[in-house]
Amino acid sequence: MMGKMLQRYKDSDRMNHWFIALMFVLAGLSGLAFFHPAFFFFVNLFGGGPWTRILHPFMGLLMVIGFVGMFFRLWRDNLITDGDRAWRKEMGRMLKGDKEGLPPVGKYNYGQKMVFWLMTLSLVVLLVTGVMFWRPWFAPYFSIEAMRVAVLLHSASAVVLILTTIMHVYAAIWVKGTIRAMTRGTVSESWAKTNHPLWHQEVTKGR
Ligand code: HEM
Repeated sequence: MMGKMLQRYKDSDRMNHWFIALMFVLAGLSGLAFFHPAFFFFVNLFGGGPWTRILHPFMGLLMVIGFVGMFFRLWRDNLITDGDRAWRKEMGRMLKGDKEGLPPVGKYNYGQKMVFWLMTLSLVVLLVTGVMFWRPWFAPYFSIEAMRVAVLLHSASAVVLILTTIMHVYAAIWVKGTIRAMTRGTVSESWAKTNHPLWHQEVTKGR
């Protein structure tokens, strides 16, 4: 029998999140197709080479627009606090599964906050550099040297975003009871007490 559930995300938060995740997969697979011949077969998902090339920037742009929505919902909850700095020092223990006596965590822990800021940073770089070599619209405004640097930074930040997202998904699966926060919007009270005690206090006060 499951105990009381707490609301963690609204429907609109979840739709926003899964729209970003879908665009991440589409922009990611189409981008990988250009990155290395070993991934070229992904163009089959998008109607061949030329269509993949046409669609990729639009899918990337939609991912960024989706993330802007999420960013404004969540940036305040992801500011690093003194509590996070104390938690960071004890992080090794948490990773070994020993959660007892860790400095109390609010809505997000330090690791989640770092994921949030890495996603933000890599998406900003992807957007700015991607625009710089988006033919035929914006590329003519930039020199070939600038575009070469942009291509390099675009790939590097794509690698950062992909690795960060792998970590994000791994952590969401690894911390039992987390996935349902984004699939159903709710979490159990014991999940909240164990993983986010300050947030638990905040949402249950006055009850
Ligand atoms: C299959 C892929 C994904 C899964 C299973 C997944 C799962 C989750 C879950 C369960 C949460 C809630 C965590 C919590 O409330 O403690 C979450 C939050 C979040 N997710 Fe995802 N996610 C995926 C892909 C993505 C992608 C591609 C992005 C962005 C590029 C993303 C960005 C975020 C952000 C920004 C949050 C809020 C956490 C924070 O601000 O620190 N997710 N995700």
